Amino acid sequence: DGKYTVTLIEGDGIGPEIAQSVKDIYSAANVPIKWEPVDVTPTLKDGKTVIPDEAIDSVTRNYVALKGPLATPVGKGHVSLNLTLRRTFNLFANVRPCKSIAGYKTPYDNVNTVLIRENTEGEYSGIEHVVVDGVVQSIKLITREASERVLRFAFQYAQDVGKPKVRVVHKATIMKMSDGLFLNLARDIAKEYPNVEFDAEMLDNTCLKMVTDPIPYNDKVLVMPNLYGDILSDLCAGLIGGLGLTPSGNIGDECSIFEAVHGSAPDIAGKGLANPTALLLSSIMMLQHMGLTQNASSIEQAIFKTLAEGKALTGDLGGKAKTHEYADAIISNLKA
Ligand code: IPM
Ligand code: MN
Repeated sequence: DGKYTVTLIEGDGIGPEIAQSVKDIYSAANVPIKWEPVDVTPTLKDGKTVIPDEAIDSVTRNYVALKGPLATPVGKGHVSLNLTLRRTFNLFANVRPCKSIAGYKTPYDNVNTVLIRENTEGEYSGIEHVVVDGVVQSIKLITREASERVLRFAFQYAQDVGKPKVRVVHKATIMKMSDGLFLNLARDIAKEYPNVEFDAEMLDNTCLKMVTDPIPYNDKVLVMPNLYGDILSDLCAGLIGGLGLTPSGNIGDECSIFEAVHGSAPDIAGKGLANPTALLLSSIMMLQHMGLTQNASSIEQAIFKTLAEGKALTGDLGGKAKTHEYADAIISNLKA
């Protein structure tokens, strides 16, 4: 029927509500996509968290998935399912654009940078043990293979989107070996991209400079090990209005999963109060990735118009609108 099939992982808490907004807006915009919903409830197999085969088959078959929030237990329980997905499909680069939304006021205007986070290892390797009572060890695993892969991706990305600079964010003064390896590999790979400038900056300094004035980062793609990317991307989200507005894409060679970075917000789940913007903008990244650029830009314009009008904003953005009222406003702006 000329439609692309896309796996849909609605997720926990507010997941189904925000996924509904995406579905409604996509059908109003006649996007040629058929959703294939899958259940990713984890099961334990040989002590490892695994996701159901049907979910794996679906993502493998469709190459692309859109994913809502999945609840992660704190300090105990199974490995985060979010991580299981990234690792199962070897989604090695996590792309997190940080772009101001015209019309949505924050203390910063015109922010437009991109973070690329290594997405499979580092402190997220899940290798932890008790050495003796009261002493634990968590391994930060850095490999040349995964580092090279994400670094090369970052340089290629910078070249493709026309950002002239790649900056590695690190802490190689302290993590001499792990961040040192990452940084040295970046210096080598930089030589393969003579059109892209390269430099490096210490993570703490990046945080200080970004909250002071993020604009000098607009010409840069920032690339970094996993945990640094997790933390710095939240800081960046704060610059432009919060996690309710920031998209992300987990990119692999075989398939990619686009996901909202925010949590499942159990406190407001089922009440029709959730803001679907992050999931929507992630889906826009997905459409661009799929080459559906026309659909991507018309929906994106409608989202930005709705946010700028400010009449149908959800509670987190200072409005009173229900999730579906915001989605309806976007749908009417599609036609406008
Ligand atoms: C993110 C999230 C995840 C992470 C959690 C939910 C496991 O914070 O995507 O940034 O830490 O990577
Ligand atoms: Mn995070």
